[in-house]
Amino acid sequence: MKAFREYFKNNRFNITCGEAKEIVDTKIIGVLVQFTRDRRNLIPVLQKVQEAEGYLSAESITEISHFLDVSENDVYSVASFYAQFRFTRPGDHIIKVCLGTACHVRGGERILDNVERELDIQPGQTTSDYKFGLERVACFGCCALAPVMVVDQNVYSRVTPAKTKKILELYK
Ligand code: FES
Repeated sequence: MKAFREYFKNNRFNITCGEAKEIVDTKIIGVLVQFTRDRRNLIPVLQKVQEAEGYLSAESITEISHFLDVSENDVYSVASFYAQFRFTRPGDHIIKVCLGTACHVRGGERILDNVERELDIQPGQTTSDYKFGLERVACFGCCALAPVMVVDQNVYSRVTPAKTKKILELYK
């Protein structure tokens, strides 16, 4: 990565994809070389880096800052303004528990409590082995199936606290 920084320091506006790849091949660089070094590209660069990495790591913020010649503080403040950007690595499996009105009335909170206890994390967090991430959702739009829990793309309906553990076992 150091070589990459040195390269950009000395060749600020003229770089081709091939040249960058010769220096070091990483996901971040693979994204950066698609853009010109114009600070107006900050949001699209952040979006593409997150798409490639799954989140915005401290390292990627540093590289973006260097690439666009914008301070790291500014990169952070722009990124943190938008809910679409995340700064922690997501889990391999994303668990979403619905707490919308229908799910709440039918025990959604207890489902969430069970998942939290089982995985020892809170919504917005990832397990230490990066296997699971947990999120709370306002409504999946399938209220007749309440309470609803979604793991990756799989929808589980009429979930009970007892079912929660069995569902999680499927992904361990
Ligand atoms: S309230 Fe849970 S799916 Fe609508």
